[in-house]
Amino acid sequence: MRISGSRYRMFLGGGLLLLLTILPLQAQPAQELLRERVLLNEDWRFFKYPSRAEADGLVYDVWPMYRMDADTAGAPKEAIVLKPWILPTGNPFIKDPARRYRRPPGHPGRDFPFVQPDFDDSGWERVDLPHDWAIRGPFVEQPHPEVDGGMGWLPSPGVAWYRKKIFIPAADSERAIYLDVEGAMAHAVVWLNGYLVGGWPYGYASWRVDLTPYVRWGAENQLAIRLEVLPRSSRWYPGGGLYRNVWLVKTHPVHVAQWGTFVRTPYVSTDSATVVLDVTIENRWARAVSVRVTTEIFELGEEDRPRGDAVAAFPPRQVRVPAQGQATASGMATVRNPKLWGPPPTQTPHRYVAVTTLWLDGRPVDRYETRFGIRSLRFDPERGLLVNGERIEIKGVNQHHDLGPLGAAFNRRAAERQLELLREMGANAIRTAHNPPAPELLELTDRMGFLVLDEIFDVWEMRKTPLDFHLIFPDWHEQDLRAFIRRDRNHPSVILWSFGNEVGEQGSGREGAELARRLARIIKEEDPTRPVTASMNFARPGTPMPEVVDVICLNYQGEGIRDMPAYTGLQGITTPPLYSAFRIHFPTKMIISCENAAAVSSRGAYLFPVTDALSAPVREGQGGDPVTRQVSGYELYTADFGSSVDKVFFVQELHPFVAGGFVWSGWDYLGEPTPYYSSRSSYFGIIDLAGFKKDRFYLYQARWRPELPMVHILPHWNWPDRVGEITPVHVFTSGDEVELFLNGRSLGRKKKGPYQYRLRWDDVRYEPGELRAVAYKNGRKWAEAVVQTTGQPTALAAEADRVRIQADGYDLAFITVRVVDAEGRTVPTADNPVRFTVEGPGELVATANGDPTSFIPFSSDERPAFNGLVLAIVRARRGMPGTITVTASAPGLRPARIVIESQ
Ligand code: GAL
Repeated sequence: MRISGSRYRMFLGGGLLLLLTILPLQAQPAQELLRERVLLNEDWRFFKYPSRAEADGLVYDVWPMYRMDADTAGAPKEAIVLKPWILPTGNPFIKDPARRYRRPPGHPGRDFPFVQPDFDDSGWERVDLPHDWAIRGPFVEQPHPEVDGGMGWLPSPGVAWYRKKIFIPAADSERAIYLDVEGAMAHAVVWLNGYLVGGWPYGYASWRVDLTPYVRWGAENQLAIRLEVLPRSSRWYPGGGLYRNVWLVKTHPVHVAQWGTFVRTPYVSTDSATVVLDVTIENRWARAVSVRVTTEIFELGEEDRPRGDAVAAFPPRQVRVPAQGQATASGMATVRNPKLWGPPPTQTPHRYVAVTTLWLDGRPVDRYETRFGIRSLRFDPERGLLVNGERIEIKGVNQHHDLGPLGAAFNRRAAERQLELLREMGANAIRTAHNPPAPELLELTDRMGFLVLDEIFDVWEMRKTPLDFHLIFPDWHEQDLRAFIRRDRNHPSVILWSFGNEVGEQGSGREGAELARRLARIIKEEDPTRPVTASMNFARPGTPMPEVVDVICLNYQGEGIRDMPAYTGLQGITTPPLYSAFRIHFPTKMIISCENAAAVSSRGAYLFPVTDALSAPVREGQGGDPVTRQVSGYELYTADFGSSVDKVFFVQELHPFVAGGFVWSGWDYLGEPTPYYSSRSSYFGIIDLAGFKKDRFYLYQARWRPELPMVHILPHWNWPDRVGEITPVHVFTSGDEVELFLNGRSLGRKKKGPYQYRLRWDDVRYEPGELRAVAYKNGRKWAEAVVQTTGQPTALAAEADRVRIQADGYDLAFITVRVVDAEGRTVPTADNPVRFTVEGPGELVATANGDPTSFIPFSSDERPAFNGLVLAIVRARRGMPGTITVTASAPGLRPARIVIESQ
């Protein structure tokens, strides 16, 4: 199916819309008019043009500054620019009424085939959401005009359409009908029944369009959504498509506005808490109404449902809402003996829900739930972050939005697994680098008790890649910012807003700071309770940018950049640790590191010789092998501007006023494969792209969970070619002392000195056999670990993260397959090709092994083990409970079989 831009003619003369819903003046709201929220994820039709040159000309905008090959990036000759029709969608988020947009007349695209109800899309692909069109690949040829290593060599750029029919009963004809999209990558434009409804360009935003005027009641309605991802538009993998949930929301014409509640807890103690609530009501009728607003507070149960009796109620309010306008009702309630929200292990993330009912003439017309938590936060320049009065060190990691082999398509279980593993390591915080996350991620962080630095932008006006967000920033930053804050401000896990990551404007003096001030002011208007920050990698004390932010958030400069001997002579900024300089200059501002480390490694790959430096940049023969493109797992090597974990810990310990920080990065992610840009995914993760722990995991765990008895040895001990050669052994432990044994002989007992985070035996000569580490704490035995030379691979062994999953079409089982020897030990160098088959009501969604250099599509059912491990991700089919059997087989090895119950 091809429709070229040139064959398409603009149609603006569609006449005035005659479908405007005329609502009865005399309201007769009935119970069935209460809010309904229907997940629209199933059964869409999808079509992506094979190339940009073949795409239609219904563009959001043309990008004149982009002078690349016109065939791949230029605008189609007969482009129809839809921006004027899209901008009004953002009006609810523009404060100054005079600056709101008026929609031009007409319906561009009205006669375009894809928006027609009777267009035959049976030849299009059938997909369920969340859907990422790029993740299945194939990976592109290198070099490529539209993507690079930064974008993960995957085909995100392009133009695609999604279509779906939705039946809207005649009984709904008095209601308002909205389409709520949690994320669409990118430049979304929505048509209903051939009428252009609206859209939103920023691919990470959540947004709503009002379908009501275009609905055919008691009939099928045709939705058509056009998306476009621009070439060279991101520093990391953006994905493409309707990659988060899409909802149909039906309400009474008088209802709680979109994200229309705001909860604050200004006074919190264990005896009582004051809860302040604003409820914004929208009235779509042509007459004013008097609405009664009642709200009760309940504890939120495990099932995300209100539990037990109300624990408090707000005094009812009677509010006059003007015709086709909004009004806000505010109230205050007291919760006695509140159960506070706070991060484990010392606190518990208790949650509450405020259930608001709107009443018209004694009848309920809307019911709206606002989940929240009761907690106090203090950002103290000396003591750091205090949650409910307790100092909580921020043990955070940065996370990009992709879910590795699943791509950008959000999956709750995959995100939960990421958080579970991070928690096992001792992390208590995440930074959403560098964009609003899926709303469900924040539900998880609320529930699990993670602290979140919620970030919105990677660029403002100054671009980082040719076609990134800077193109839409001037038109959309206010709408994006207000929508983001309103969406996320009730989450107890969100502690801090970041409105920029390393933006170029940090260096543009007063002008950049003025823009920052404007953005900060917008945030304060939407949420005066939380501090704002923007991460800075080169703004210094004395430059204007840091003056604007409430919390100083440093990327890398806190611990110093290129200031160690091994970095001498490298290009770029060199700076000593700057924590103290910022502390002196800003004595009233709390300081954290928004990004630290940028250490790199490949799981289970060890390269020799091993540097004796505390921290070293990857170079050929120094932690890196440009031929295999693997980076040493000794966990001492970094990007050119980075620092090893040991150095970061050391500098943080020297600066106890620093509230903690966020490691770059928690998990590996697609794209940005520093230092080898011909690879496809990052080396920065503490956990690899498949979810397997790198050795670094244990370095963090040793420090972040000092109460957990653990000791970890590296490298593996299968080095037939290194007999007699120096093969350093490093040990990470939460203890303070370790005795290392090789084949029963003690290699000495070593104690951690001050600022020491690993114990090193750098002169061990390899001989096959067994390494044993016995750790002590305060002189008492604390933990023990063993690493043995294994035999040849003989079998596969499989283990699932969960053997019981939900038959809901979303839930996943993550199956780890190990290549083992006759004694069941993982063979740490094995790369046997493994094939997966699935029987029963499940499907193989993806395979992965954590190798950043692999270009096998993630959807492949065959994948070699990488350093002994390979992963299969299996999804249960919707509504088909039963037994799923997953078999892993490899030539010459005994297969492994695992059974998953889908319920
Ligand atoms: C930072 C940047 C991150 C990531 C990281 C590692 O400068 O903010 O997005 O690029 O470096 O390269």
